[in-house]
Amino acid sequence: MQKIKFYNGEDIPLELHKVRVVQKLHLVPIERRLEALHEGGFNTFRLSTKDVFLDMLTDSGTNAMSDNQLSSMMHADDAYAGSQSFMRLRNAVEKVLGKKYLLPVHQGRAAENILAKTYVRKGNLIPMNYHFTTTLAHISENGGRIAELLYDESYVINSDYPFKGNINIEKLAEVIEKEGAKNIPFIRMEASTNLIGGQPFSVQNLRDVRSLADKHGIRILLDASLLGENAYLIKMREEEFKNNSLGDILQIITEMADIVYFSARKISSSRGGGICTNDENIYKEMETLIPMYEGFLTYGGISMREIESMAVGLYETLDETVICQSPNFIKYLVDELDKNGIPVVKPAGVLGAHVNAMDVCSHIPQSQYPAGALAAALFLISGVRGMERGSISNQRDENGNETYADMELLRLAVPRRVFTLSQVKYVIDRMTWLYHNRALIGGLKFVYEPAVLRFFMGGLEPVNDWTHKLIAKFKADFGESL
Ligand SMILES: Cc1ncc(COP(=O)(O)O)c(C=O)c1O
Repeated sequence: MQKIKFYNGEDIPLELHKVRVVQKLHLVPIERRLEALHEGGFNTFRLSTKDVFLDMLTDSGTNAMSDNQLSSMMHADDAYAGSQSFMRLRNAVEKVLGKKYLLPVHQGRAAENILAKTYVRKGNLIPMNYHFTTTLAHISENGGRIAELLYDESYVINSDYPFKGNINIEKLAEVIEKEGAKNIPFIRMEASTNLIGGQPFSVQNLRDVRSLADKHGIRILLDASLLGENAYLIKMREEEFKNNSLGDILQIITEMADIVYFSARKISSSRGGGICTNDENIYKEMETLIPMYEGFLTYGGISMREIESMAVGLYETLDETVICQSPNFIKYLVDELDKNGIPVVKPAGVLGAHVNAMDVCSHIPQSQYPAGALAAALFLISGVRGMERGSISNQRDENGNETYADMELLRLAVPRRVFTLSQVKYVIDRMTWLYHNRALIGGLKFVYEPAVLRFFMGGLEPVNDWTHKLIAKFKADFGESL
């Protein structure tokens, strides 16, 4: 473990990289930020980056690339079929994820489309630790259902439970018993479970899932999009693995999965995605869908340059100094917010800090989307763009009723090696101010609501004039400051 101590005792994450390419940012005035919110339907997905100061929407496709990734792009072998770039990627997948057959796809959800089309039939049940938005959409589209099987502790916001992403083994056994193995095409395990705050599973838990799966002859599907950081937290938190390298831990995990898929936008700080396995039959079952939906089998809709950078990015997930940076910054952000009394998901996970909007905005009913309101309010007073991960991100049931989320979270993503510490301090400062003025935040209502994945394109508006009251208080406290 890389731990660098400061003489003055301060505990801050030290960057183990230097910045050589920079991009100018703009912090536009609060009046413009309000206009931008109206133009974007109070939905942070619909903001334009020209109005955004710190973009904490996601780490997907926004991690900083390394010099080696960028330079690798220059030896891309552009060919429709048989490209050497693809061979290099296939080698990287085999070395890092331990799987020899690779189906390339243009991003993570494209893998989910292929997997759901191949394996999910009407009425099937997919047990999992927790859903991801696009995963659920593809499973539902193919007539499947999901069972989310976390331990109760995983839903406790303020906790020190180290592996909130673990599957509840007793519940899994019950579900298999009740449904019958024939109705379960696979058990899905998501590394660093995104929607509950980027929370990891342990190797021991995966071993327990594996032995149950073996007993019933069920496959395990691993979503490895955030596997590097999950492996890092295993090294930090699971005693048995404290002396293992990230590479060892990755191999131990992927060996237990029959199929591994990933979003390369996350795991390898590039673009693209993939499905990999060591089982030739599984590979053959999906093979024909790749040219049909993605592109030929040696590019899958990804540019060769990105394929090269994906290969290098995969090797870099073995480097602890690359992988530890985002979780260490997140831990700093979470600890400081927590010290200031702001309710955040604990322990700190990966991907970002997650503020508990249900608590911050306890005066806003779930029907007025507290997490969406908090995301809009934070953008208004700071130019920081977070993401709503609450009921807006849920989909309505088949009768058109709201399905309220278990947690109403505002996610502040910390992509790998993008932000400086003073920028993170600005986020802490503005979030603290907002927390002290939380009574001024009001709810939102839909004015445009797409039927599927409504959080991407949906349009909302404030239920009353709360934005003006918040601006007036901001001006009173900060004067002319942006
Ligand atoms: C856990 C997980 N799975 C799948 C996906 C989908 O990947 P993509 O955005 O590349 O389609 C994501 C994206 O954020 C994710 O976090």
